[in-house]
Amino acid sequence: MSNVTVRPMHIRDVRFAASLEGADINEKMLADEVLYNAMSHYFIAERSEERLGYIGVWITDPNAEITHLTVREDRRRQGVGETLINRAISFCKARDVLHLTLEVSVSNAGAIALYEKQGFARIAIRKSYYSNGEDAILMRLKVRNAT
Ligand SMILES: CC(C)(COP(=O)(O)OP(=O)(O)OC[C@H]1O[C@@H](n2cnc3c(N)ncnc32)[C@H](O)[C@@H]1OP(=O)(O)O)[C@@H](O)C(=O)NCCC(=O)NCCS
Repeated sequence: MSNVTVRPMHIRDVRFAASLEGADINEKMLADEVLYNAMSHYFIAERSEERLGYIGVWITDPNAEITHLTVREDRRRQGVGETLINRAISFCKARDVLHLTLEVSVSNAGAIALYEKQGFARIAIRKSYYSNGEDAILMRLKVRNAT
């Protein structure tokens, strides 16, 4: 998909982001992230002022973590997820981050494929990580060389 732009997420985007999520992630939680959490940096992907998805990154110096990544269901497989991850990676590079990590459900084959395409490696399994008992895969991308 061409002409996708990425910009920082504002409080006015929180309702849109929450609308992409299930009951586990609500507007208040995302609003707190955007307004009050100094570690968190959220971005919105859009095209022609239509919001398409969002990504959240926590900077935990010297590393960082992707906390959320969701694309509108009717706009998937158009490169939006990749565009958002690329923005998160370039943001981390500018912050001199060493490793960027994330957790993804073992059953989420699409997201795992996306992360592997972006160079993330499988590092460990976190047993029963999710409330439904599913395991998570911890994935990691080396953003810069350690000094
Ligand atoms: C995972 C998610 C963010 C991907 O977003 P997207 O915009 O559809 O991803 P992209 O179009 O950028 O995909 C890029 C590549 O990733 C891989 N990929 C993405 N989704 C895939 C799927 N469902 N099955 C297989 N491969 C997939 C492919 O290699 C794809 O390239 P291709 O389309 O040229 O084959 C989206 O499916 C989503 O929001 N899922 C629900 C929330 C979620 O699971 N988030 C991740 C939590 S860890």
